[in-house]
Parts: sequence; C-alpha cells; structure tokens
Amino acid sequence: MSDAQEFRRDFPLLHTKMNGQQIAYLDNGATTQKPEQVIRSLCTYYGGCNANPHRGAYALSVEATDIYENSRARVQKFINAKRPEEILFTKNATEALNLVAYSYGLTNVNAGDEIVITVAEHHSNLVPWQYVAKAKGATLKYIYLEDDANLSDEDIETKITEKTKVVAVTQVSNVLGLKNDVKKVVKKAHSVGAVCVVDGSQSVAHMKVDVQDLDADFFAFSGHKMLSPMGIGVLYGKYEILDKMPPFLMGGDMIEYVHEQDTTFAELPAKFEAGTQNVGGAAGLAAAIDYLESITFDRIEAIEKELVDYAIPQLKELPYIELYGCDSTRDNKTGIITFNVKDVHPHDVATILDSYGVAVRAGHHCAQPLMEYLGQNATCRASFYLYNTKEDVDRWIDALKKVRGVLGYGTV
Ligand code: ALA
Repeated sequence: MSDAQEFRRDFPLLHTKMNGQQIAYLDNGATTQKPEQVIRSLCTYYGGCNANPHRGAYALSVEATDIYENSRARVQKFINAKRPEEILFTKNATEALNLVAYSYGLTNVNAGDEIVITVAEHHSNLVPWQYVAKAKGATLKYIYLEDDANLSDEDIETKITEKTKVVAVTQVSNVLGLKNDVKKVVKKAHSVGAVCVVDGSQSVAHMKVDVQDLDADFFAFSGHKMLSPMGIGVLYGKYEILDKMPPFLMGGDMIEYVHEQDTTFAELPAKFEAGTQNVGGAAGLAAAIDYLESITFDRIEAIEKELVDYAIPQLKELPYIELYGCDSTRDNKTGIITFNVKDVHPHDVATILDSYGVAVRAGHHCAQPLMEYLGQNATCRASFYLYNTKEDVDRWIDALKKVRGVLGYGTV
C-alpha cells in the first residue's frame, strides 16, 4: 500500500460518494479534507470541554483556556517561532494579512513611501496593500515574473529600494504552484529597512516552515488548507514589531482597563484577539499539526512530487492543453497544476470533470492581476495533497481527454 493510500483511510469524505461516484478530490489549494483525528478533536472539545476561555473562574473555562493556549504553543513549535506571544489566532490568512495592513501598514507607511508586492499574490495579500497605499498616498509596486514564471530576480533587486516600507510575498503561488525564494526577498527587504510579510497559505501544509530561518517579520496562514477546521488562521509576527503595533479589532479580552474615554490594551497576544476566541478551531489546528508531524513533510512532499512528475508529461502530450507555471527548471514546483483546455471556458471544463467525479477549481483563483499578466480571464487548477493517488490523476486526465469531445470540438 502506498503512503497516500494509507493516509486516505483517515479521511471519511474520500470514502463517501457524490452523484454515485467516489470523488477524486483535486482542490486542495482551496481547502483540504479533514482526517478522523481532527474531526474527533472537535467532538472532544465541544462534547467535553466547551466554555468561554480567559473569562471564567470555574474549572471548565480554565480547561478551555488551557486547550487554547496549548494550541498556541503547538503552533509556535510547528513553525519554530521564538515565543508563544508571537502566534496570533485569526479567522484565516485573509484576516491575518488585513491585521498587518491595517495595524502595521496604516501606522508605518506614509506619503511618498513604497509598498512592493508580487504580481502572483492572492487578493488577500494584494487588496489590503492597495488600500494602505491609497489611504496613505504611497506607491504600490510589483515584482513581475521571468519567462519560466519564477519571480524576476532583477525586479527583486531594483524595485525594493530605500523608499520601500513593506514587501509582501507569497511563499507558494496558489496559481503557479512555484515556491518563491522568500529568504532572498526578506534579506533584500531588510537591507533597505522594510518589513517582509509572507503569505504561507499554500506552503505551510506542504513543506517544513521555520519562521526564524526565513527571518520573515510576519507569516500568515489558514488552518483549513492544512487539515484543520475552517474559521481558524494564524498570524506570526516578531514580538518586538507586534508589541509596538496598535490593535486591529477592539472589544472584549483585548483590554487592560477601560475608562469612559480611554482604554489601555492587554499585552500580546490578547491585544490582537478581541472577542470570544475559536477554541474548537484552535484544538482542531493542534490536532492537524499532530497529524502532519506524525506523517512528516518528507513523505508529503514525496507524494506530491510523484503526482506532479506523473501528470505534467502526460498533460504536455495533449496539444489542446495549456499549462501555467509548469516549465520551471528549478526544483521548486509544488503540487499545483494550473491549465486551460483550448476553446473551452474553465467553468465548462470543471463542470465536465465534475460529471466524472473529479473536483478541480476554475476561475480567477482570487489572483486577477496574475490572470491579467498571463493574458487569461480564468484557468482551471488541480491541486494535490497527501491522500491523492495516481488513480486520481488517471481519472482527471482521462476525463480531461473527453472535454472537447463532449462540447463537439475535435479531440486535438
Ligand atoms: N485561496 C483559495 C484558493 O486559492 C481559496 O483556492
């Protein structure tokens, strides 16, 4: 039995039938399925320990607080942050990135300054920076791509200048599936005194991330793309930077003392966690981390690489398939394959694949500037994870070969 076949036994959804067929789930870039271990952790929490954390003097509330804070420590260890206070729980990566833009960006970016991002950013690491640039009279500059879809080294060198205050970069593009050399971008940002914000949404579930090694100032990710429930995300930030930042959301639990006209704020991390926290989500995230660490990233990366190496040569044989981000000669391809079928709208492709039980994403992937740059309105995307097998790839490619025929086009 292969590793992926062994792991898929833990995922109930992969054994249920949709429209009478077992699903070949290839939309892991959007969200991953959840193993029994994570589902059970939610039942354990809600069935036995649910209470409002940080507030009650009774044992159940203390237990909920312990679960929440132990999950924070689990995340700290997982990404190798120096201190637990550097881990802020958010709703998802989008909220984490907005926190940085609103709190750090609006405070530290001024008229005439520059913000540098890449053209391959997801809207969540792009629109907030557009907002900050417009609000503060700063300029938003883009790092574009080389012919092989990797970030332009020349742009990294020339666009990040003494005027740059913030550099925002994704560790892996959700469309191109290429790992960026984030350490190089961080180093360049620091050389001009800028902070570097890294979107780890498409990386943290697929490869070992060490925030101290990256030296990133901020690192954001969503739990639901790494086996855990929706509604829990993480912002890592360096303590010294977070400590100086103003709160983002205000209300309960983030205060030290409230007077009629003034408020003093709590210490980190509470300062950035207003309102009742998602303890169940944090427990689920900790269970997901336990699961990932028990199977190791070496095995996950090997599964995804095998599938990519299996699929891309077959796709390149099909004259009507256009691929994006699949020509890199560097060893930085992850398990994301973005493609179009000649003459066919991506939504029609995805609908036809769905009729064969194959789930892929179609659309602009929340990366419209990248779509414009690639000259496409939309694309399809297959994204693999630890439970995908060569049989899933076979079903996808077999169905893909039928798409043009179904619509009455030739098969070449
Ligand atoms: N950000 C998710 C994706 O790329 C939804 O599909």
